This record gives sequence, structure tokens and C-alpha cells, in this order.
Amino acid sequence: MIVGVLLLTAGAIAAGLVTGRHHTEAVRADNAAGDTACLSCHQQQASYESTAHRLTSRLPTRDAILASFRPGENVLRTVNPRLYYRMDSTATGFYETAVMGRAPDTSIYSQRIAYVTGLRKGQSFLYLVGDRLYQLPVSYWTGIGWANSPGYPDGRPNFDRPIRPRCLECHATGFQSITDPNAVNRYRSDNAILGITCETCHGSGRAHVARERSLLRWLGPRAIINPARLPRMRQLDGCALCHNGTAPLRTAPFAHVPGQPVEKRFDLSSAPDTGAIDVHGNQVALLERSKCFRSSQMTCATCHDVHRQQRDVVELSGRCLTCHAVQSCGLFPQHGQGLIGRCVDCHMPLLPSNTIMASSLGRRLQPQVRTHWIKVYGPGGR
Ligand code: HEC
Ligand code: HEC
Ligand code: HEC
Ligand code: HEC
Ligand code: HEC
Ligand code: HEC
Ligand code: HEC
Repeated sequence: MIVGVLLLTAGAIAAGLVTGRHHTEAVRADNAAGDTACLSCHQQQASYESTAHRLTSRLPTRDAILASFRPGENVLRTVNPRLYYRMDSTATGFYETAVMGRAPDTSIYSQRIAYVTGLRKGQSFLYLVGDRLYQLPVSYWTGIGWANSPGYPDGRPNFDRPIRPRCLECHATGFQSITDPNAVNRYRSDNAILGITCETCHGSGRAHVARERSLLRWLGPRAIINPARLPRMRQLDGCALCHNGTAPLRTAPFAHVPGQPVEKRFDLSSAPDTGAIDVHGNQVALLERSKCFRSSQMTCATCHDVHRQQRDVVELSGRCLTCHAVQSCGLFPQHGQGLIGRCVDCHMPLLPSNTIMASSLGRRLQPQVRTHWIKVYGPGGR
């Protein structure tokens, strides 16, 4: 009798564990726990909140917008003498205004900034007309200031570039599209989750939080993805969602489930390998081309800890020495130990991007990108 009861209980627990097997979900407004909840236990990851991932889309505030609205610094002239832009900070918000024609017969067209995207190399600004989202013609470029948005013709006011869901998928945690066969850019704005949050990479965390707060936590599954436990290719997929260029899509946006193959989300096989660097993240393809990657178990985590900001190339050069000895560099006989801390400068040089480009008053603006094709470069980055 007692044995029977024990067996039944054990069976029930086992069945509970099996049926209670956790299915990771992509994070959405209705299943998100939020970073504040995560950080209430995981204080070690608190530095994540000030990274470029976390801050890559934000509401417009003085803090969030890096460019200046001060008089004298808030105007962008164009090659067209009959067009300039003025950027204003007022009590009702931040505006971009196109001023057209010659004084006193000027006409203006104004839009209010709804969201800010980007942090390091530059920022682009988005605006809403009703529930339709568009990109503004003037962006901010680090080291330059206000400038035409990438790909916008200089001197022609363009206020009608729609923001597609894929753009938001790489720069935010969630935007819910409103289905409309005639428009790609309609969104609900009441439940958008800005910035890349913990759950973008770890999956919806509500079940995990409930488990960790429960007394019976050991009974259920952890209910959260730790990329470190995934096979190598799945680990790379977690980054490839946004750092593998723009391949044709297979499913709705924001449907990628952490831990699952990114191939479900988009068709990588048909993406042309042109050899060009894609600033809109093709670090994955470039790294995959490297001998280091092909001859080792390297992943992005070999060098990057995404939970903190890492821009010190001297420190990152130290990562090379986890596999190489300084003596393996062909220049060792001439340079000796002086090579230490400089590996990245020569073997992962900054190269100009050919996909994010803009022109301003005849000047070509091309940001420099850190190539992830690790190899020996000759003069001119070839
Ligand atoms: C109530 C405290 C608590 C909260 C809230 C919490 N965690 Fe955890 N988390 C834990 C504990 C404890 C562990 C260790 C679990 C174990 O080893 O069984 C853990 C483990 C993890 C792991 C590693 C899992 C593994 O398989 O190695 C990840 C990733 C993680 N948490 C992410 C998150 C994220 C993201 C959130 C927010 C959605 C979150 N946690 C919220 C307590 C918490
Ligand atoms: C949801 C999309 C998304 C995912 C997933 C993602 N990234 Fe990013 N990542 C971005 C965007 C967007 C930026 C640029 C942020 C900015 O500057 O506004 C970025 C920037 C970075 C940077 C530069 C940060 C800095 O401060 O200089 C690194 C490094 C990086 N990502 C590595 C990774 C790695 C490694 C993974 C996988 C573990 C990953 N990313 C996953 C979208 C993503
Ligand atoms: C496939 C993912 C992806 C898509 C789609 C995408 N971005 Fe990005 N974007 C990135 C990544 C990754 C970076 C950082 C790139 C790098 O340095 O390699 C970035 C960088 C930027 C930057 C410069 C930020 C910085 O700090 O360097 C801006 C501004 C930006 N994106 C705006 C946009 C806008 C606006 C759209 C849509 C019209 C868009 N992006 C579409 C992934 C994406
Ligand atoms: C851009 C993707 C990304 C984001 C966003 C992200 N993580 Fe992670 N996280 C990872 C990766 C990748 C790993 C595995 C690291 C490794 O391989 O060492 C990881 C590992 C972890 C672990 C396990 C650490 C350990 O030592 O085992 C915890 C806990 C965790 N993350 C919590 C968080 C929390 C909390 C946040 C938000 C504040 C967050 N992560 C945001 C990608 C991310
Ligand atoms: C995870 C281990 C690992 C890391 C980290 C690593 N490498 Fe490598 N690297 C290798 C292996 C393995 C090879 C192939 C060696 C061989 O074939 O003899 C290689 C090859 C190379 C080559 C020759 C490339 C070619 O095309 O011939 C260069 C240059 C190089 N690594 C530089 C670097 C630099 C610089 C770093 C840091 C930015 C780095 N590696 C980080 C493992 C690594
Ligand atoms: C061998 C080391 C190494 C590996 C592996 C590596 N990175 Fe990097 N990464 C770097 C270095 C060095 C930088 C330059 C840091 C800087 O200048 O701020 C960098 C910068 C970046 C940036 C910012 C680009 C820019 O132009 O500022 C992104 C995005 C990034 N890495 C993504 C990734 C992704 C995604 C992976 C995996 C596919 C990856 N990295 C793997 C060393 C590495
Ligand atoms: C000043 C630029 C420069 C710096 C700094 C530098 N390298 Fe090199 N490295 C080169 C050049 C150029 C070659 C090719 C030399 C040759 O073919 O004789 C090379 C060759 C190599 C190779 C061998 C490639 C092969 O053909 O097998 C490795 C591995 C390597 N470097 C690793 C490193 C590491 C690790 C560091 C940092 C400790 C480093 N290098 C720093 C320029 C540099």
C-alpha cells in the first residue's frame, strides 16, 4: 500500500515535470517580465542597462538625443539654396522642420520626433503620422553633428520613408504591427518595448521569474535560455538575428525564439556573399570567413560579454592571446612584445562602410566599421 502511494506520487511528479516542460517564447508585451524584474536577482548584469543594445531605441529626451538644439547649431544647410532644415526643442517636444523657398516666401513642413534609434556612430529619428511610422530626413552623425539620413538625397526634402518591422526588430524588443495590405508601417504605440531587453536574447522570462520566486523552484524547469548551454551554431544564431545582414524573411517579425535556429526566421542561404562589409551588422558572416573561426570553436562570446560595454581594443586584443602566442605573428621578429595590445589594429582594422552612406554639401559621409574578418591585411584594407 505505502509503496503503491510512493510510486504514484513519484509518477505524478515525473509526469508533472514532463508535461511542465518549458517552451521558450519570443518576448511580447503580454509575456514580458521586464529588465527591472530580472535585475532584482541578477545584479551582476546591471551594467547591461547602459549598453548600446539597451539604449538603441528610446523616447526622445534631452539625454537620449546626442545632437544639439542650440541656436546656431540647430540648422542643416543643403546643396539646394532653397532648402534648409531647422531642429527645435520646444515645450511640446523635439521637431525637425524643412524650410523651403526664399525668404520672405518660405513654406515649412514640420514633424515631431517620436523615437530615437542608435547610439554610437549616429542616431536616426522616427516620427508618427497617426499610427504610421516614418524616418526623418535629418540624422545625427557622431563627430559631424546633424546630417542627411543615410541614403537620403541632399537638397530634396523627403518625409516619406516608411519604417518596416524588420528595422524595429533589430533595434527594439517589441512593436506590434497593425495588419494592413496597403501599409507596412502601422504599429500600436501603446505597447511598444523600446531598446533591446534581457528577454530579447533569453526569451520571455515570466515563467522563470515565477519559478525562482516559488518555494518549489527545484520541481520545474529553469524556463530561461542560457546561450552558453546551446550548441555553437545556436549561440551564433542568437546574435545572427541582428548581426547577419538583411536576408529574405520567412516569418513575421519579432517571432524569433531564442535558442532556435535563426533559419526559421530568415533564409540565409539566398543572401549573396558579396564580400562587402555591411554596417547593418554582418559581423557573423565576416567572422565565419576567418581562419580563426574555422579552425576553432570560436563564438561571439569568445571576445564579447554583451552585459557590459566593451570598446577598449587593447583589452580585446588580449582575447587573441587566449589562442595565439605573440610569437605566432609574422612581425614578431621586428616588433617583439610591442605587438601586444595592438593585434586588433592590424588584423581587424576599421574599414569604411558601403551600406550606410550619406552626402552632405557634396561631402560623402561613411562611418568606419570594425571588420570581423580576422586575417592579414595589406595596405588599403585588402
Ligand atoms: C527571483 C529571482 C530571479 C529573477 C527575478 C530572475 N532570475 Fe534568472 N536566475 C535566478 C536563479 C536563482 C538562477 C539559477 C538557477 C539554477 O541554477 O537553477 C537563475 C538563472 C538564470 C539564467 C541561467 C540559466 C541557465 O540555464 O544557466 C539566466 C540566463 C537568467 N536567470 C536570466 C534571467 C532573466 C532574463 C530574468 C528576467 C526575465 C531573470 N533571470 C529573472 C533567479 C532569478
Ligand atoms: C535584437 C537585435 C540584436 C541582437 C539579438 C544582438 N544585437 Fe548586438 N547590436 C544590435 C544593435 C541594433 C546594435 C547597435 C546599437 C547602437 O549603437 O544603437 C548592436 C551593437 C552591438 C555591439 C557594439 C556595442 C558597443 O557598445 O560598441 C556588439 C559588440 C554587439 N552588438 C554584439 C552582439 C552579440 C555578441 C550578440 C549575441 C550574443 C548580439 N550583439 C545580439 C542588435 C542586436
Ligand atoms: C538586420 C538588423 C538591422 C536592421 C534591419 C536595421 N539595423 Fe540599424 N543597426 C544594426 C546593427 C547591428 C547596428 C550596429 C552596426 C555595426 O556597428 O555594425 C546598427 C546601427 C544603426 C545606427 C547607428 C547606431 C550606432 O550607434 O552605430 C542607426 C542610426 C541605425 N542602425 C538605424 C536603423 C534604422 C532607422 C533602421 C531601419 C530603417 C535600421 N537601423 C535597420 C542592425 C540593424
Ligand atoms: C544581446 C543578447 C543578450 C542580452 C540582451 C542579455 N544577455 Fe544575458 N547572456 C547572453 C549570452 C550570449 C550569455 C552567455 C554568455 C557566455 O557564453 O558566457 C548570457 C548569459 C547570461 C546569464 C548566465 C550567466 C552565467 O554566468 O552563467 C545570466 C544570468 C544573464 N545572461 C542575465 C541577463 C540579464 C539579467 C540581462 C538583462 C539585464 C541579460 N542577460 C541580457 C546574451 C544576452
Ligand atoms: C578561439 C581561438 C582563437 C582566437 C580567440 C583567435 N584566433 Fe586567430 N586563429 C586561430 C586558429 C586555430 C587559427 C588557424 C591557425 C593555423 O591554421 O595555423 C587562427 C589563424 C589566425 C590568423 C591567420 C589568418 C589567415 O587567414 O591566414 C591570424 C592573422 C589570426 N589568427 C589573428 C588573430 C587575432 C588578431 C585574434 C584576436 C583579434 C585572433 N586571431 C583570435 C584561433 C584563434
Ligand atoms: C576575436 C575577437 C572578436 C570576436 C570573436 C567577435 N568580435 Fe565583435 N568586436 C571585436 C573588436 C576588437 C571590436 C572593436 C571594438 C570597438 O572598437 O569598440 C568589436 C566590435 C564589434 C561591434 C561594433 C562594430 C563597430 O564597428 O563598432 C559589433 C556590432 C560586434 N563586434 C559584433 C560581434 C558579433 C555579432 C560577433 C560574433 C559573430 C563578434 N562581434 C565576434 C572583437 C571580436
Ligand atoms: C603592425 C601590424 C600588426 C600587429 C600589431 C600584429 N600583427 Fe600579426 N601580422 C601582421 C602581418 C603584416 C602579418 C603577416 C606577416 C608575414 O606574412 O610575414 C601577421 C601575421 C600574423 C599571424 C600569422 C598568419 C599566418 O600567415 O599564419 C598571426 C597568427 C598573427 N599575425 C597574430 C597576431 C597577434 C596575436 C597579434 C597581437 C599580439 C598581432 N598579430 C599583431 C601584422 C600585425
